[in-house]
Amino acid sequence: MKLLREKIQDEGIVLTDGVLKVDSFLNHQIDPKLMKAIGCEFARRFKENGITKIVTIESSGIAPAVMAGLELGVKVIFARKRKSLTLTNNLLVSSVYSFTKQEENTIAVSSQFLNASDKVLIIDDFLANGEAAKGLIDIVKKSGASVEGIGIVIEKSFQKGANELKELGVRVESLARIQSLKEGQVSFVEDHED
Ligand code: G4P
Ligand code: NA
Ligand code: NA
Repeated sequence: MKLLREKIQDEGIVLTDGVLKVDSFLNHQIDPKLMKAIGCEFARRFKENGITKIVTIESSGIAPAVMAGLELGVKVIFARKRKSLTLTNNLLVSSVYSFTKQEENTIAVSSQFLNASDKVLIIDDFLANGEAAKGLIDIVKKSGASVEGIGIVIEKSFQKGANELKELGVRVESLARIQSLKEGQVSFVEDHED
């Protein structure tokens, strides 16, 4: 997605060889116009898949997921990372290991919002090692629903997540794919379709 790649080049800050900061439009301040365009692009890529629900994870997955849900006309569920006062019964849970924080976290979704007949699109802001995505797949499968695919805003193709998910047979659609963050430069994978 050309608009997104341009935004990353203009506003992204390479913190290290492995980490891109995009706090000005995705992870802290949010650019609603860009999010709307991102939602439209996810909807375009998955419109033939009969999606009935979108599942994401708090917090930065919510904005792109809501825009995609608006465009596809489906509800959006976000998995919670922290214990909730009200979300206590009939939880579908999974364990997610964070390489950045080197800790295991539990994520949870209420079983009342996912049915075995649902066809789910999973959306997240970043794909790095794929731990969050695998946790979300696990939760969707526990509900009996099917995973139709994964939509990612920014994929770091040099980390293992994208390949591992594809090896699991999951369709991964990433709107920007980063080849490298070396020497303070963002380089994209060459084969973008637009
Ligand atoms: P993994 O799920 O792919 O294994 O990722 P990892 O544990 O390495 O990442 C933990 C958090 O860091 C996630 O957000 C993930 O989206 C984010 N992240 C990973 N790589 C980058 C990067 O290069 N740039 C930015 N900006 N974020 C990255 P989170 O802690 O769940 O935060 P949030 O969703 O509440 O914002
Ligand atoms: Na994030
Ligand atoms: Na995220």
